[in-house]
Amino acid sequence: MTLKDKHIVLGVTGSIAAYKAASLARLLIKAGAEVQIVITPSGKEFITPVTLSALTGKPVVSEFFTANDGTWHSHVDLGQWADLMLIAPATAATVGKMANGIADNMLITTYLSMKAPVMVAPAMDLDMFAHPSTARNLDLLRSYGNIIIEPAAGELASHLIGKGRMEEPEKILSVVEDFFRKQESLSKKKILITAGPTFEKIDPVRFIGNYSSGKMGFALAEECARRGAEVTLIAGPVSMKINHPNITRIDVESAEEMYNASMKAFPDMNTAILCAAVADFRPSRQYTEKVKRGEDILNIDLVPNKDIAASLGKIKKSNQRLIGFALETNDEQTNALKKIVKKNLDYIVLNSLNDPGAGFKYDTNKISILNRNGEKKDYALKSKQEVASDIIDETVG
Ligand code: C5P
Repeated sequence: MTLKDKHIVLGVTGSIAAYKAASLARLLIKAGAEVQIVITPSGKEFITPVTLSALTGKPVVSEFFTANDGTWHSHVDLGQWADLMLIAPATAATVGKMANGIADNMLITTYLSMKAPVMVAPAMDLDMFAHPSTARNLDLLRSYGNIIIEPAAGELASHLIGKGRMEEPEKILSVVEDFFRKQESLSKKKILITAGPTFEKIDPVRFIGNYSSGKMGFALAEECARRGAEVTLIAGPVSMKINHPNITRIDVESAEEMYNASMKAFPDMNTAILCAAVADFRPSRQYTEKVKRGEDILNIDLVPNKDIAASLGKIKKSNQRLIGFALETNDEQTNALKKIVKKNLDYIVLNSLNDPGAGFKYDTNKISILNRNGEKKDYALKSKQEVASDIIDETVG
């Protein structure tokens, strides 16, 4: 009974995949959970509340009021009762309303009052899933700390083939079980994470930077926090938002600021994961006025920045763990191993720019993890959330 005594609010919306909510509810209950279904008006067009309430043994909640008897369903009570809210299937409309707080049905009001973590399993046609508005809304949900169970690729109800099919109930169940199993696994651990690029000032309006989006580091911070760790996230200039009570975010701009913040925080930490793409060089001087266009060549001399990873490696105590990243374009493994030794790391996560869909900007990543003995584990291309989970499983425990 992996989900014994867990209270799960299962949100069902108007997608053809709503029929799978019945199997999902059954699997959750078989695993020991108590399930309360909240369904949207269009969800009821796809599956009847009678089927669902027969499975859960509880009346399905759909309206704010029960007809004629004056009973009011409190979304606030549901928000307090639940250990998890799982919305499966989630349509583009529901994802959009959740992202923007459009509380026009019981499911969205329940979502907005939810105290427990929220998981979302989208289901929609491939073009709807690929639309930038859906991507933006899902990013917003991620920034609220919600967990997205990525849809699978395959044949859709429209007979088109592509990404948008709700994950199978068995897979969703395993994500839920995994979530509860790991929930407190890092409690009392203090973890430092660096993320994003650094900007090195040339003059008041220009800088030298890089393409790092911060997505990988933010996904790591979220996953550590979700598992109960106390996270200090030192972020370079990124547009990402993060929202979790266990995360303290420190925003910095330059490598020097990141170095100072990291050196100050590290002595108190159990683990540091150095995910930031720190600039190796900075201009030797910063112009105080904007540099004007001229006919002559403008040379900017660059001086090396301090290596944060190597500096933390020097002060690392035997009970502390240090994890670095390497982004290589050639001789990946040899260079990564050299870095483990040079920077005194315990593990290095290797990203390759040669893998399609991996690295900067993408929502996916493909990694290998090397330890000090040179042992290497390769992983498949996955969402950055899943990659974060793999990294933590392997290196932090
Ligand atoms: O040497 P390289 O830049 O490839 O090493 C990458 C690893 O070192 C990453 O974990 C990165 O966060 C870290 N690093 C650092 N300070 C620097 C340069 C890299 O912490 N100045």
